Amino acid sequence: MNDTCLEALYTSARKVCTEECGTGVLVRGIVEFSSYCKNSCTYCGLRSQNGSAGRYRLSTQAILSSVGKLYRLGVRTVVLQSGEDPELSADWVSSLVAQIKERWDIAVTLSLGEWPRSSYRQWREAGADRYLLKIETTDIQLYHRLHPGMNYSNRLRCIDDLEELGYQTGSGIIVGLPGQSDASIAKDLQFLYERDFDMISIGPFIPHPRTPLAHYPAGSIERTCTALALIRCLSKNSHLPATSALAATNPDRRHLGLLAGANVIMPNFTPQNHVEHYDIYPHEGRVATPESSPLQKAEYQVRLAGRHMDYAKGDSLKTKAPTGQTGQGSFS
Ligand code: 5AD
Repeated sequence: MNDTCLEALYTSARKVCTEECGTGVLVRGIVEFSSYCKNSCTYCGLRSQNGSAGRYRLSTQAILSSVGKLYRLGVRTVVLQSGEDPELSADWVSSLVAQIKERWDIAVTLSLGEWPRSSYRQWREAGADRYLLKIETTDIQLYHRLHPGMNYSNRLRCIDDLEELGYQTGSGIIVGLPGQSDASIAKDLQFLYERDFDMISIGPFIPHPRTPLAHYPAGSIERTCTALALIRCLSKNSHLPATSALAATNPDRRHLGLLAGANVIMPNFTPQNHVEHYDIYPHEGRVATPESSPLQKAEYQVRLAGRHMDYAKGDSLKTKAPTGQTGQGSFS
């Protein structure tokens, strides 16, 4: 696409974004609580075969303390993310969610990968509102090449379960994966559009030096922003984050996502001594300098894009049954 076409697309995406989601940028605080992972996704630095990855698992107390901190700063959504940690138990997660919901009036989003439907149900009953599980790519052969030992149909099963259980559900893709064509990205966008997800995350592939894909080129920022703008125009009122992967090579790039139609930013509230160990991909902007807190950094990016921070809970704008009012039937 030439520059004039691109600008026209971004302008349309921003218009749809303003009309459908308003002018603010929703703030979600993310806490990455375990860097252990049993999987071996070929692009991800947390893959189990990466022996040089720093592994940590936060205690319940440490997580509650991070949630308390972001709550005091006015943030009203916490995203709890981890690798697929084999030591994690569904009961422990459930108790964590219940404790958070008991203490604070805050939306809880989980992003813990693939689990049985019974665990998803248990967490939903404990009060979890939302769940993020990216499909990563809808090209089934590519999916299986990139995710040894995993199964595309199980990924879809998880997404179906989450939706049926009444979670506000997010999915998404990586743009620029080795072996991924533009036609394949077009099919991904069709999938994301047709499923009408509450949240959609699109970020560029970032090569990680300790993975089999270390020597492949990074996904293009322009292609990522094009995909983002297209999905904004298609999916209208889905919540779209300006992903941290956009800023991986240059911290000042995250606002580009906002200019292409994103309406969510996710400052990182993982305790400072662990931030660098949640090493899914190399990331220049990860380690906060003392003079710039995660929230200040997010605010800077938001202002760069000419927008303002929105501290609302930011529930789904889709006209499905709202969370918490779905009735016991939906937990079946
Ligand atoms: N490049 C881009 N995105 C990545 N993720 C993991 N590793 C990489 C990488 N090297 C993304 C995946 C996953 C999310 C938590 O991080 O999309 O779903």
